[in-house]
Amino acid sequence: MNNLSDTIKNRRDLMKANWFELQNIKSDQQNSVANPAIVKPYDDKNIIDLPEPKRTDRLSSDINELIQERRSRRQFADEQMSLTELSYLLHSTQRIQKTFKNNIATLRPVPSAGARHPFETYLAILNVEKLKNGIYRYLPDVHKLIYLHTHDDLKEKVVKSVLDQTWAGETNVVFYWSCIPYRAEWRYSIKSHKAMLLDAGHICQNLYLAAESMKLGTCAIAAYDQKLSDELLKVDGEDEFTVYISPVGKQVKTEI
Ligand SMILES: Cc1cc2nc3c(=O)[nH]c(=O)nc-3n(C[C@H](O)[C@H](O)[C@H](O)COP(=O)(O)O)c2cc1C
Repeated sequence: MNNLSDTIKNRRDLMKANWFELQNIKSDQQNSVANPAIVKPYDDKNIIDLPEPKRTDRLSSDINELIQERRSRRQFADEQMSLTELSYLLHSTQRIQKTFKNNIATLRPVPSAGARHPFETYLAILNVEKLKNGIYRYLPDVHKLIYLHTHDDLKEKVVKSVLDQTWAGETNVVFYWSCIPYRAEWRYSIKSHKAMLLDAGHICQNLYLAAESMKLGTCAIAAYDQKLSDELLKVDGEDEFTVYISPVGKQVKTEI
């Protein structure tokens, strides 16, 4: 193991804590720079209400069963997803429960280092009740959606964005989590990046469990095309970019 390339060594360093590196660096928060917005700003056009979330259709709500039965699922039934089911998935992953410290931080169903929650949730809607197909963004402060845009060949673009993993195109909705890194860099500077990647995992795990509780299925995707995904969402790829994707569909009844 002595002939590791410098690239591998550098990548491993990102995984280490090494908080001492902050000794001579002041974060923007320490320099009294105003905190970034806790939610990406939006205007009041094209806003869509979501029904109150509730779980539907589940035989057991035993948390141990859900944890043990969770699987990555890549086969789906050809059935529409209800808006209530989608509402529950969003509520379980990123809904803001509390804003505190003069609007600098939020609490949500998942943990996040320093309560920074540096992510936005985008949805490629492919087959959901009452929603035309297209790209939407979740507004976690008010639990609503905002319709952004669509593409004639949305399904093909989704599949291309995940490097031709065709099963993603057979789902009802594809979750794309983008990161606005400055939200965490503002507080933790060069030590924020490891934390942001850890944070993302928590969101997706909640999606797995919330999906499982309604006999929906999902499968995390890290093998995606950065450029095509960012273009699909229309984010700039620098101050905001895709970090994780998870398509959700209806479980097929025969699946083990
Ligand atoms: C960070 C991460 C990235 C993943 N990326 C992909 C992916 O791009 N494509 C895919 O089919 N599965 C992907 N998976 C799913 C794994 O293959 C899956 O979790 C693993 O095979 C174990 O199966 P299980 O989740 O059913 O326990 C990913 C999982 C994680 C946690």
